[in-house]
Amino acid sequence: MKKILIIGAGFLQSFVIRKAKEMGYYTITIDKNPNSIGFPYADEYGVVDIIDQEACLKFARKKSIDGVMTAATDYGVLSAAYISEELHLPGLKYEVAQIIKNKYLIRRILFKNNVDDISQYFEISNINDIEKISNKIHFPVIVKPCDGSGSRAVKKVNNIKDLNNACKEAIKASLISKALIENFVEGKEYGVESLVYDGEVYILGVMGKYMTSPPDYAELGHFIPSKLTIEEKLKKVAQNAIKVLGINFGAVNMDVIVSKDNRICIVDIGARMGGNLIGSHIIPLGTGIDYMGNLIRASAGDSVDIRPKKSGMKVATRLLALAPGKVVGLPNFERICAKYDVDIYHHLKVGSTIREYHNNLDGCGYIVAVSDDIKDAERRAKNSKELVDYSIKREKI
Ligand SMILES: Nc1ncnc2c1ncn2[C@@H]1O[C@H](COP(=O)(O)OP(=O)(O)O)[C@@H](O)[C@H]1O
Ligand SMILES: [Mg+2]
Repeated sequence: MKKILIIGAGFLQSFVIRKAKEMGYYTITIDKNPNSIGFPYADEYGVVDIIDQEACLKFARKKSIDGVMTAATDYGVLSAAYISEELHLPGLKYEVAQIIKNKYLIRRILFKNNVDDISQYFEISNINDIEKISNKIHFPVIVKPCDGSGSRAVKKVNNIKDLNNACKEAIKASLISKALIENFVEGKEYGVESLVYDGEVYILGVMGKYMTSPPDYAELGHFIPSKLTIEEKLKKVAQNAIKVLGINFGAVNMDVIVSKDNRICIVDIGARMGGNLIGSHIIPLGTGIDYMGNLIRASAGDSVDIRPKKSGMKVATRLLALAPGKVVGLPNFERICAKYDVDIYHHLKVGSTIREYHNNLDGCGYIVAVSDDIKDAERRAKNSKELVDYSIKREKI
């Protein structure tokens, strides 16, 4: 029985842990949180900080693993790459993982290779540096931490006056204390999911994204097919980005904004499956491709087959981005699922606090609706989410 190590054991990783076990792999997982949701699903677990690469490697060595992978967490990507390189297992080159962890380095490579339509970018590690570039900047711009995730500290800035504060916040939110400034692109946002294996780049699917309104830029859900008329062009751009960045192995998740005049701007790349049920539900249901299964097999050094096993369906998801409060009564989820023919995955409990929704981490779970008509899937996902929100009994906080 081959042993696979999954880095991270949170809610979203628990789908991967379960899948790997179902597929017959001996499944080991690590996470800093001793109460991780994913631990009970694994054959074995360890309480290890997934940011601490040496500690992760030491653990992996001791367990004589055959493969390592991560899902839905950027922190895990570096550690997984470090382990796979050190132990000569299939994986992303560590050097590439380091680039992918830094949005500025990604941006520089994409720009130099003319991959997309972002035309200006600056890196800031000290707000005194703003002065030097202030006359070069064309507003509006977006400011974000170079190594951020979950849309934290991402801000649109319209003038030089507001730039200082936005940079300060982004630097503060960055583990490497660096912020990226780039063009603000007005348009519709899409997610592109890809798999790299044996030198080939497979673009698995393009999803439309529901987003919050500014000043927050947080995901509210996805739908596939994307309804984007220039989907083929977008796929070529994504493919090119993967090539020039040197991504040699595994899953790639991209956020792309397409402007009204069809400019394509890549705003974010992760060398991992997308979170928010993209890897576990949206791609497999929407394309018929066993995305997670193939990624697990590839990581364990087994052969992959990315041909669709079933025909794709129309899928819409909604994050449980709910009104804030302390939960005193839960809705009857079964009844809501039956009424709208949807699946609900949530981590709500009586007594838990729902925070105002500003980023992914404030979400309380997900709704998945499947149909042969995308409008129908979208409607059921939206209406059932609204009913969940409405039916929760809560106290003010
Ligand atoms: N250049 C940009 N123009 C317009 N919106 C952007 C830009 N960059 C990021 N955003 C918005 O902010 C969100 C979060 O930014 P992103 O770079 O994806 O960070 P994170 O790693 O936190 O997901 C994006 O999904 C998008 O909605
Ligand atoms: Mg993103």
